[in-house]
Amino acid sequence: KFDGLALTPPMGWNSWNKFSCDMTESLIRETADAMVASGLKDAGYEYIVIDDCWHGERDSLGFIQPDPVRFPSGIKALADYIHSKGLKFGIYSDAGWQTCGGRPGSRGREYQDAQRYASWGVDYLKYDWCNTEGLKAEGAYLTMRNALHEAGRPIVLSICEWGDNQPWEWAGPIGHLWRTTGDIYNCFDCEYNHGTWSSWGVLQILDMRKDIRKYAGPDHWNDPDMMEIGNGMTVNEDRAHFSLWAMMAAPLIAGNDLRNMSPETIAILTNKEVIAIDQDSLGVQGFKHIDDENFEVWVKPLAKGDLAVCFLNRAVEPLDLNFDWKSNPMKDPDFDYTFDFTRNTYDLLNVWSGKQQGTTKKVLKASIPGHDVLMFRLSAN
Ligand code: DGJ
Repeated sequence: KFDGLALTPPMGWNSWNKFSCDMTESLIRETADAMVASGLKDAGYEYIVIDDCWHGERDSLGFIQPDPVRFPSGIKALADYIHSKGLKFGIYSDAGWQTCGGRPGSRGREYQDAQRYASWGVDYLKYDWCNTEGLKAEGAYLTMRNALHEAGRPIVLSICEWGDNQPWEWAGPIGHLWRTTGDIYNCFDCEYNHGTWSSWGVLQILDMRKDIRKYAGPDHWNDPDMMEIGNGMTVNEDRAHFSLWAMMAAPLIAGNDLRNMSPETIAILTNKEVIAIDQDSLGVQGFKHIDDENFEVWVKPLAKGDLAVCFLNRAVEPLDLNFDWKSNPMKDPDFDYTFDFTRNTYDLLNVWSGKQQGTTKKVLKASIPGHDVLMFRLSAN
């Protein structure tokens, strides 16, 4: 896919992580209001996406209708409202016969659904993968892509296939982003077993897929799932979660209740420097430079020769950092970037304190709290 609709990873909000099926048009309107009032819109958040369970039945002609109780004013009115706030509107469907929540899927109705979404003013479609027995993922997603194209409205296609069919290998020309894992779970370091499937904490998702960063870039992003910031992890954990998603050039889709955010949650979600690292125009996903049990160093090449470096403490206990840049040349394993601190000196901007913190000439000494990060933007001086 290269139509310029997602030159940087999409930013927005999605209803699922916090509200699952419990969603109404007033919640969505209030969320749009809150996105503007809280400063998230100014920070770059753009899409308001309704996930599973907005659906009612198909009408006698087969057109999908919203749930009449939860969305009495209809989807077009909701999309108009969201657009009136200067935001964009996203919707959800499924490549199978039913969605994961048991609502009508788009199988066999792809062109009809795409046409309806376009007429409603939809800007973004998250397309799930439940109840798809017998379907081939690539073909199923291609059908919807073609249907959206035919419908004639620019619509970002978010492929939600969980990585089982290696979407990074085929989804680039089809969608703008593709999920790489199963669902995130609101925990920094856990696996949550649902019986037949599991959902995953922040660190579990971080660890799950190797060697796929080379498949990502402008208009085609790896998607490690929506964020859980503000849903109950500690401030340290939320900060680490946001930092790591930015290092991965992940879509930044908030999953909390935007109407009730603590100042800490707002400060994390709107940190300009971290967002700039995620949204950097070079579009290169970060790589792991050091993997030493509870200590990891992540590196993301940025435009104009800058780079971001994120020191991660996976342990619960604080970690004493003693890092000599000069003995740590950072070489990108997939692309042609090398950062050699014996040849070049860089200024360090601590993106969480907002302060300059010396240069790479000096050994970096710091203490990193448990489940937290220290993160810098480096610029050649
Ligand atoms: C599975 C997806 O991975 C989730 O993000 C969410 O969309 C649910 N399905 C909805 O049923």
